[in-house]
Amino acid sequence: MSLELIGITKRFGELVANDAIDLKVGDGEILAILGENGAGKSTLMNIVYGLLRPDSGEIKVDGKVVAITEPNDALASGIGMVHQHFMLIPVFTVLENIILGHEETSQFGKLNLTQAREKLLSLAANFGFEIDPDAIIEDLPVGVQQRVEILKALMYDAKVLILDEPTAVLTPQETDELIEVIKRLRTQGTSIIFISHKLREVKALADRITVIRRGKVVATADPSASQEELASLMVGRPVNLVPDKTSHEIGEKVLEVSGLTVSDPTGRALVSNISFDVRAGEILAVAGVQGNGQSELAQALLNLEDHVNGSIKLGTQEVVGLSVRHTLDAGIAYIPESRELDGLISSFSIADNLILDTHREKPYSRGILISDSAVESDAEVKVKEFDIRALSISDPASSLSGGNKQKVVLARELSRPLKLLVACQPTRGLDVGSIEFVHERILAERDAGRAVLLFSTELDEVLALADRIAVMYAGKILEIVDAQVTREKLGLLMAGISQ
Ligand SMILES: Nc1ncnc2c1ncn2[C@@H]1O[C@H](COP(=O)(O)OP(=O)(O)OP(=O)(O)O)[C@@H](O)[C@H]1O
Ligand SMILES: [Mg+2]
Repeated sequence: MSLELIGITKRFGELVANDAIDLKVGDGEILAILGENGAGKSTLMNIVYGLLRPDSGEIKVDGKVVAITEPNDALASGIGMVHQHFMLIPVFTVLENIILGHEETSQFGKLNLTQAREKLLSLAANFGFEIDPDAIIEDLPVGVQQRVEILKALMYDAKVLILDEPTAVLTPQETDELIEVIKRLRTQGTSIIFISHKLREVKALADRITVIRRGKVVATADPSASQEELASLMVGRPVNLVPDKTSHEIGEKVLEVSGLTVSDPTGRALVSNISFDVRAGEILAVAGVQGNGQSELAQALLNLEDHVNGSIKLGTQEVVGLSVRHTLDAGIAYIPESRELDGLISSFSIADNLILDTHREKPYSRGILISDSAVESDAEVKVKEFDIRALSISDPASSLSGGNKQKVVLARELSRPLKLLVACQPTRGLDVGSIEFVHERILAERDAGRAVLLFSTELDEVLALADRIAVMYAGKILEIVDAQVTREKLGLLMAGISQ
């Protein structure tokens, strides 16, 4: 099936998110869409899937204009979509999620699940997926949840499948598996629209690449183009994909963790008796497949975990047991894994988000009042320094694109006096230009003599930034290796295999 978009335009108030976009995907073709954060990719796909209405433009399926005003119209035309943020109901089972919106009942009003179950199982078998139809979604790893989303689209015979940043939350292994699934879909004749910020994947998968910048199609590229060429097409300037890292003196211990154990409420150890240190001017990366205790370790460092044993020393000061506020005041900056959930208060203005942890201090605080003028002038400075692209500092943080949200978190956290930076997945979902910026800032902290603990599931990022790499597996540090380690060896360690 072929899908063609002609002159799609979408405005949000003053902002033109899609500006007369033309695009075509042929039968059994994989089209990749590249574009900066905020370029308009998701908006365009939401229009195709019937979640948004365009202000003008047409959608053609196999050469015929179709009217798509809601997702059911898209499905009926053979268009399926896996969203950037999954749309599954966490407390429902796999099967319940799959039939949601397509429920068939017997004449007595009882849900008819048998047929759906059979179709699901045969589809899953076709792809070699192991899926338990009765598993509860929230108990499943992210990679499996995504397979459920894909199966859901295929259950209703999608001939064009839209995947909006499907790999952003996957582990390297899950990503490789997904790439195989997508290739398999192509051989079976499904057309794919694939959106990703990861140029390596785009090159591995795409038959053709369309580049969008500020709502307009600016180029069509061949997958044989180099990563550098693709990056500069996207951002409109040359991008340094591998950050410049100079070797330099490593100083004294800043963070010393000894015998640290973090347990869940039932007493099961999620981080089990680990010890390591990070020195001034050093980046220690914590690598590993997600779910091996990295998140709990990071949160324990900020005193965000309840059941902690052992010692965490910042210089000579014991940190375990401090309030979160005193932990931050002790000199730890924190970039949380989820900027949406833990990094920002979405409904607060950009300016207010920039002083969340310093609002008690002068010049922001005046007695019991906040000085608006101090907050505003501070925000103006940070917005400039960190190149935060926003219409106004009084807009809510929720209006920012992913990359710009991350810049707000960085600007706030790096503007306090700090000894240790704990950065968790700092470039997740960001475009190449924003990644370059975040990497430069993290390296600048290292070069200024701060200790940096970087949590990342992104091997390229770990290898580019780290001075040493600690690999976590099953709640333990399996090995700490130096940054010259090969990708292969790292991959093995992440799978729990150490020689
Ligand atoms: N509902 C909305 N109301 C107002 N503005 C919006 C809305 N949805 C998107 N935008 C704006 O439209 C622009 C395009 O956003 P979109 O989500 O399509 O970008 P994207 O290319 O998918 O970016 P990313 O790579 O960060 O996912 C952005 O400036 C965004 O802030
Ligand atoms: Mg998007």
